[in-house]
Formats: sequence, C-alpha cells, structure tokens
Amino acid sequence: MKPERPTPLVDPFQRRINYLRLSVTDRCDFRCVYCMAEDMQFVPRSEVLSLEELFRVAEAGVGLGISKIRLTGGEPLVRRNVLSLVERLGALPGLQTLALTTNGSRLVSMADALQRAGVNALNISLDSLQPKRFRELTRTGNLHQVLAGIDAATGAGFARIKLNAVILNGRNDDEALDLVDFARERAIDIAFIEEMPLGRIDEHSRPLSFCSSEALRHRIAERYPLTALGEPTGSAGPARYFSMPGSATRVGFISPHSNNFCHLCNRVRLTVEGRLLLCLGNEHAVDLRPLLRRPGSNRDDIARALVAALALKPEKHHFTHSDEPEILRFMNATGG
Ligand code: 5AD
Ligand code: SF4
Repeated sequence: MKPERPTPLVDPFQRRINYLRLSVTDRCDFRCVYCMAEDMQFVPRSEVLSLEELFRVAEAGVGLGISKIRLTGGEPLVRRNVLSLVERLGALPGLQTLALTTNGSRLVSMADALQRAGVNALNISLDSLQPKRFRELTRTGNLHQVLAGIDAATGAGFARIKLNAVILNGRNDDEALDLVDFARERAIDIAFIEEMPLGRIDEHSRPLSFCSSEALRHRIAERYPLTALGEPTGSAGPARYFSMPGSATRVGFISPHSNNFCHLCNRVRLTVEGRLLLCLGNEHAVDLRPLLRRPGSNRDDIARALVAALALKPEKHHFTHSDEPEILRFMNATGG
C-alpha cells in the first residue's frame, strides 16, 4: 500500500502552520536573568540532535509548506559548525525566510557568513546600552562586543534586522527611549517584550518586575508619536508594530500577558533534544528523536509525525502573574 500523502499543516483550530523555530542548542555564553537561573543544567550531549537530524526535520517541514524557519537557542551561534546547517537550510527550495535570533556576541566574526549562507532576517537581543547594567542583566555579557556585532550585522546587508529588548520594571524600563533612539540611528526595528514566566528563577520577582507594553508605549509616544501599523498577523508574528514620523524604524510590542495573540499562532518549535513543542506556554509536545534515530526512518515518516503532532496543538497559553511558573522549562530550553 502506498503511504498516505501528508496533509498540509493545519491544526484543530484551523490555524495554518508555516513557521518552524529550530533550537540548535540550549547552551549560551550569556545567562540573562529572565531566561536562565545562574546555575543551569544543560541537555546531555547524547540527547542533543545532530545538525543532520535538525536538518531532516526542517526539510520535512518545508516539504509540508513551512515557509519560514528561525534558528534559536540558547545562543545558536555557539553551536559548533552551525554555519553548515545554515547553508543547507538556505538552499532549501520553498523556504522564503531563514531567520536567526542571537545575543550578538559572535556577530563580529559571523555576520557576513550568515548573510551569504542565506539568513535574511536577524533578531538581536539588546536590553541595555549601559555597560554595567548590560552585564548585570546578562550576567556574563559584554556590551561593547554586542554593539560591535550589531555594527557588523548592519554592514552585512541582511534584509531585516530587529532588536529585541526584554524590559523589567526598575531594571531597564528607563532605557526604552534610548533603545528606540539607538534603533532609529541605524534604521532598524525594535521590539519590546514582556517577560514570560518560563522556568523558575530567584534573581527577581517576575510579578514585581512586570512592565506592560502599554506603559512603554505611552512613554515612547511622549517623544515620538506612534501610528499603529494594524493588528498582529501570522506573518508579522505576535508583535504589534507602530511607525514614527521621520524614521524607517518600526517599534513593536510583544505582550504575552496583556494581549493574547494565540488565535494567530502559525508556529511550532523543535527543541534541541527533538521535542516538537506545540505551544510556548503549554507542555504539549511530541518527541521526534526516537523516530529520527530509528534506522531507515525517512522524510515521509517525519512528515507524517509532524502532521499528526498538530492534533495536539492547544488553543492558547494562560500566563499568570506569579513567582511559581506553570511552565518549568526555561526559555533557553524552549527556543527563544
Ligand atoms: N521572557 C521573555 N523573553 C525572553 N527571552 C528569553 N527569556 C525570556 C523570558 N522569560 C528573549 C530574549 C531574546 C529571545 C531569545 O527571547 O531576550 O530576545
Ligand atoms: Fe542566552 Fe538569549 Fe537566554 Fe540571554 S536570553 S541567556 S542570550 S539564550
């Protein structure tokens, strides 16, 4: 009997899934206070998917209509030989957007090669422009290295560059305007992100550090009138974007608490140990690693597993303001 032809990726809520986020490592050279605990246990190497295994999932997904892939981590650029994966993904017919989220620490040496390999959208995390504070928020990061990385990226010719800033009340909320100015000077976009309750941390109280997108938007609008660029869409992601007069920079707000965007969800995530996560804010997942490591398993087998997994995609996340996270996996293990 011929194997069934895989159906397109549509979930039980009629959402079409065309975006795959691939976590290529859970390791990172930073230890951002909202993302990790100071002392972290990482996935044992034997459980980490090989670059070949990651590629096989991506290839099967693109065959089913995935048109956008984002490489995440951890910090994707600390994965050894990650460029070889980027090059193979960049050559996949049917993939329109190859995006990468990075902390910027290695962009000085890697930006050009990433651009040449086919990365066309780059997100760079930047939470502070003050060296001491940057170090406190990232625990190990060096601001100057990241700023030089951002310069390398803007010089490398990526189609889109966006800065991501997680804002914590009393820590860096006073820098929102400085960060907007930094983005304006470079004509790149910036998104402000509300902290999400992933993993148990004791460095700060998440409810007390909560800084709403609304509050930030009002503060920014006092200097720059903001014009809404429409509601979020699947392709633009969960951010709500605004334009400013006299600048190409768009300012976005990602508000997992104050603005539930789940009905537009178009994505799934693959963790580095091969779990396909159906939702950032729920534990629903399918472990693809046994299939990937089963001798003789092929692309159709993976495609069928991807289609079947979508039946488990939950309708929405329910983040609450509490120091007891409902989701125990940290962002670095989730694929940020
Ligand atoms: N809440 C919100 N954003 C987070 N990030 C990491 N952890 C969290 C969290 N708990 C962001 C980083 C980066 C991206 C990888 O995810 O700042 O921009
Ligand atoms: Fe590393 Fe990004 Fe997590 Fe910071 S937020 S620790 S840079 S993975």
